[in-house]
Amino acid sequence: MTKTVAFPQNRTCPYHPPTGYPRTEEERPLSRVTLWDGRSVWLVTGHAAARALLADQRLSTDSTRDDFPLPTERASAVRRRRRAALLGWDDPEHNAQRRMLIPSFTLKRAETLRPRIQETVDRLLDAMVAQGPTAELVSAFALPVPSIVICDLLGVPYADHDFFEEQSRRLLRGPTAADTEDALARLEDYLGDLIDQKRLKPGEGVLDDLVARGSGDGGPERRELVQLATILLVAGHETTANMISLGTYTLLRHPERLAELRADPTLVPAAVEELLRFLSIADGLLRVAREDIDVEGTVIRAGEGVVFSTSVINRDAAAYSDPDSLDWARSARHHVAFGFGIHQCLGQNLARAELEIALGTLLRRLPGLRLAVPAEEIPFKPGDTIQGMLELPVTW
Ligand code: HEM
Repeated sequence: MTKTVAFPQNRTCPYHPPTGYPRTEEERPLSRVTLWDGRSVWLVTGHAAARALLADQRLSTDSTRDDFPLPTERASAVRRRRRAALLGWDDPEHNAQRRMLIPSFTLKRAETLRPRIQETVDRLLDAMVAQGPTAELVSAFALPVPSIVICDLLGVPYADHDFFEEQSRRLLRGPTAADTEDALARLEDYLGDLIDQKRLKPGEGVLDDLVARGSGDGGPERRELVQLATILLVAGHETTANMISLGTYTLLRHPERLAELRADPTLVPAAVEELLRFLSIADGLLRVAREDIDVEGTVIRAGEGVVFSTSVINRDAAAYSDPDSLDWARSARHHVAFGFGIHQCLGQNLARAELEIALGTLLRRLPGLRLAVPAEEIPFKPGDTIQGMLELPVTW
């Protein structure tokens, strides 16, 4: 009798993949898992197969299709009826949306934002140190850094951060489907009002630029603008915040690697790349097959769901030697922590700049940084959302 493997599963250690998923060295790159609604779908765990499939346009991200695999009842309530901008669309519609945003998210643009990011990081650490020598790092640092940066970039008032951080928390981890729907409606109302104000009084952000293009003439309609603003605001702060909190926790649990970074800060960019691979915080990418696809002799049939565990994929021994160890010297490139193919993370240049500055400065400014309570007592997020720490009590 074959064993039923559930998807998604919680991690037992916040920086390792869930132990219940099959590892590629033991099994084929594809296996079967069961979703909350009893549906059986394919789980991709092999690195080469994952990159081939994520680049394969026979897989769709249209969450409004009945056969699209959704990881929770909560996600299903919202995404079955409404697809997210960018991520919920296949080409050519996806490409038309993405083209409007590419100039705002280039490597060059991220580089020009570095001084502002550094200022923000310095200011938050000054305040944290002034109130020290203990802090809850998620609320004092990990969440405000990306939240301030994305507000600046988009032209969203940071003064409203309590409101939109609360809505995105409910959107990603609300207790019920109704709560998730309500959070999305509130966030969209808020961004709709903001966009209307920008029409009357334009400012400097990415949203102002989009508004200025006007609707019609290839420019986005109001509804499309609101949906683009929603994904940018939510994806822009929740993800990077989790990388900062979980990245810090992981470094504090690996004192030798931490000492190497402190001794040689030029290792920070390589360490960020390796942490992205190692932590794989977006650990469940979702697709449905539009046509039959042959993967090394196994056929994914049209209409079947396909889910990707990026944490297992990024620990494939065929792609990385000694994959369960942290190693600043390895080339972590080609990981799929930012996805791959047409939906590969739009914000990755920005995220790398934020992570390098946030983690690099935190380690430099607080040489005595350590956990303030036993590691086992620190709560982390469940497996059905972006992975990260719920709280991170530290001292220095
Ligand atoms: C370390 C932080 C981040 C991680 C790990 C991450 C991860 C990902 C992943 C895995 C995807 C692809 C999802 C899929 O294919 O199903 C994605 C897409 C996306 N990300 Fe990120 N992300 C991060 C930061 C950001 C930031 C700062 C932004 C800023 C706006 C952002 C905006 C987006 C958008 C808009 C998409 C959809 C792109 C498309 O469909 O074309 N992300 N991200």
